[in-house]
Amino acid sequence: MTGMPAAGAASAGTAPTATTASVRPAGEDDVPAIQAIYGHHVIHGSGSFELVPPERDEMARRRAEIVGKGMPYLVAEQDGRVVGFAYAAPYRPRAAYRYTVEDSVYVAPDAIGGGVGTVLLAALIETCTAMGFRQMVAVIGDSENRGSIRLHEKAGFTDAGTLKAVGYKFDRWVDSVTMQRTLGAGGKTQPPAGG
Ligand SMILES: CC(C)(COP(=O)(O)OP(=O)(O)OC[C@H]1O[C@@H](n2cnc3c(N)ncnc32)[C@H](O)[C@@H]1OP(=O)(O)O)[C@@H](O)C(=O)NCCC(=O)NCCS
Repeated sequence: MTGMPAAGAASAGTAPTATTASVRPAGEDDVPAIQAIYGHHVIHGSGSFELVPPERDEMARRRAEIVGKGMPYLVAEQDGRVVGFAYAAPYRPRAAYRYTVEDSVYVAPDAIGGGVGTVLLAALIETCTAMGFRQMVAVIGDSENRGSIRLHEKAGFTDAGTLKAVGYKFDRWVDSVTMQRTLGAGGKTQPPAGG
């Protein structure tokens, strides 16, 4: 996956894009760029239900927690700059959910609409499928979040329901949209013995 060119993302079932971004695992050194991207979307967008951008140490702690669980935390790099990040986390902590992951994707404001989200999500899907996970869930802040809804549709996610007005941000009630995509055999086959 390291340095995987954007065109490789097509193997996860999405159309190739024109972006020149490459995807690689995120390191500790990427945390300042990740924090800047996420902080922007916390302040200006309703995709995240956080109201205050986390400090750098907190973003480092979150990345380490994901990586410590053996889960993928990726960045997209373009012209030597981190222009987006994506990670998969356990969907819910209780054990029966152990084959289901939740994805998160964030792209730098000046790179939005350029295909970076598509290659990040494709890489995440490919990695999680190879790891044996069976379902990926997106919990998308705001039913008006057309960028994220389209990104997920394009990657094979379908609508799994909308919770109405469960958030309140920027002086308005905000919905939470759930979308879901099968990974690998999904629910069609049993997990490996002992799983
Ligand atoms: C959602 C997000 C990650 C998408 O990343 P991106 O790099 O802009 O996405 P891409 O350029 O790969 O585009 C993916 C698809 O979404 C469409 N799209 C992107 N932004 C859009 C928008 N604002 N409105 C409508 N469609 C949009 C693109 O046109 C493309 O579809 P197409 O190929 O049919 O034209 C990015 O917009 C973002 O960081 N948003 C804010 C944070 C957020 O909401 N993250 C998701 C949390 S679950």
